Amino acid sequence: MKFFVDSAEIDAITELNELGMVDGVTTNPSLIAKSGRDILEVTKEICDLVDGPVSAEVIALEADAMIEEGRKLAKIADNIAVKVPLTWDGLKACKVLSNDGHMVNVTLCFSANQALLAAKAGATFISPFIGRLDDLNLDGLEVIEDIRTIYDNYGFDTQVLAASIRSANHMSECAKIGADVATAPPHVIKAMANHVLTDKGLDAFVKDAQKANIKIV
Ligand code: E4P
Repeated sequence: MKFFVDSAEIDAITELNELGMVDGVTTNPSLIAKSGRDILEVTKEICDLVDGPVSAEVIALEADAMIEEGRKLAKIADNIAVKVPLTWDGLKACKVLSNDGHMVNVTLCFSANQALLAAKAGATFISPFIGRLDDLNLDGLEVIEDIRTIYDNYGFDTQVLAASIRSANHMSECAKIGADVATAPPHVIKAMANHVLTDKGLDAFVKDAQKANIKIV
């Protein structure tokens, strides 16, 4: 499973990228607003940093305007994936932008039917939002599972990009289901390293090493 970082924070992306944990980046208008940076400037910086796809989202709601914005975003770098919302206009924009040869990430997907439409419209990535479904007491992982089954049934190339990931547990569940990509905030990717038994075991090793005065350098 590929790891995308769901962030527009350069320092956090850099730290994970240096560890080889970054196969791509996703941003959205809320993340860009949080960074306090100009969208074109910060997106260019991320594209220069990371080799894989960098999703940059359109703001417009109407298809023609989304296409215009998408074409402008795509000019930032070759690794831009234009992100469009899963609305009827977004699907129209997806079709045109993917016919142009751009990568397209269809976002705000909450059902298998929506994902089926995005694949038919030529999406490179479909982004089902797990956390926001779980927030409503629905089963986000079940939606990922359904999309995986449908795409495999018909050989769709669209990659399942699990989004709105809130926990390390979501990451392993997505990997088990067969999501192609999971995009997560930096703190979730780092939390995957945590285990209480690792902390406990390390504590014992440190104490024993001190008691025995073990030195390596
Ligand atoms: C990624 O593409 C999405 O924009 C993001 O994962 C949304 O996450 P959230 O539901 O935690 O805001």
